[in-house]
Amino acid sequence: MSKELALLDGRDDPKPSERAPGNWPEKPDMLLNIRNLRIEATVYPPRESPRNMILVHDVSLTLERGKVLGLIGESGAGKSTIGLASMGYGRGGVRITGGEVVLNDRDILTGGASGMRRLRGREVCYVAQSAAAAFNPAYRLMDQVIEAALLHGTGTRAEAKIRAVELFKKLNLPDPENIGRRFPHQVSGGQLQRVMTAMALCSSPDLIVFDEPTTALDVTTQIDVLAAIRDAIRDTGVAALYITHDLAVVAQVANEIAVLRHGKLIERGVTQQIINNPGEQYTRALVSVRRIAHEQRDCDSPPVGYQY
Ligand SMILES: Nc1ncnc2c1ncn2[C@@H]1O[C@H](COP(=O)(O)OP(=O)(O)OP(=O)(O)O)[C@@H](O)[C@H]1O
Ligand SMILES: [Mg+2]
Repeated sequence: MSKELALLDGRDDPKPSERAPGNWPEKPDMLLNIRNLRIEATVYPPRESPRNMILVHDVSLTLERGKVLGLIGESGAGKSTIGLASMGYGRGGVRITGGEVVLNDRDILTGGASGMRRLRGREVCYVAQSAAAAFNPAYRLMDQVIEAALLHGTGTRAEAKIRAVELFKKLNLPDPENIGRRFPHQVSGGQLQRVMTAMALCSSPDLIVFDEPTTALDVTTQIDVLAAIRDAIRDTGVAALYITHDLAVVAQVANEIAVLRHGKLIERGVTQQIINNPGEQYTRALVSVRRIAHEQRDCDSPPVGYQY
């Protein structure tokens, strides 16, 4: 087993991979069960009539409590669309037209607006690619980090602040006791991304959707932030849907990987098996791209990646 895969640290599932999409057995400790999800949008091409486009075709995914499922695929594959749907959300113009998203044994798509409000921030949180866009520049970091915890009544203000400082420490933020007093523009991009992870963890949700949380950062910062997120996921035991286009990144955090292409689930399996023995041609191409990138790197040990 490669060095980085060893970092998965016993989170791996020893069962053999079952590659057929949708043919993944239900498990007793199921947290999220997406069944036959179909998502559509209307597009308006110039000088043509509006037409319907299917963004996600009949995708089924499952995630157990405390596990990490990596969602990987090229740009436009539908990763963010599925990540947002797992919180019951569709971006403007996007409609969830079929299937179920069962979280904690409830279909969240049938819960109505108030059900969604109760769910978001308490059972599921979202960490976006751009932390800067997710923070209000007018409020201090601490007030924003503890907001969801207070809103959902998961503790007192003092308790939420203590938990936030613990999370700042876990995420290796500098001056963890005081950094919460700063405004968003007073920390670096990598630090803000970690604060956003602390914000997601502060209300102790069951699930966090990480949507390319390190992609906007420079390579060195990516490594640190990825390691901090990976450790925080492991220490808190939160389940995560980890979205990325980079197989090497997902190899470091995920127990299982689901590969998407053109809105379809094309392969799913335990991380090591997908990486060492991909079943589909497209997954093989993703793996070999990383292998080429690795071979072309002139430094001895790749900062983010796995060895073959
Ligand atoms: N509101 C919308 N209306 C029409 N099409 C949309 C809308 N939002 C997304 N799409 C299309 O849905 C497809 C999936 O988009 P999505 O953002 O889920 O991709 P992604 O896999 O997250 O890509 P990336 O890695 O670039 O973030 C894309 O083809 C995109 O153009
Ligand atoms: Mg995306």
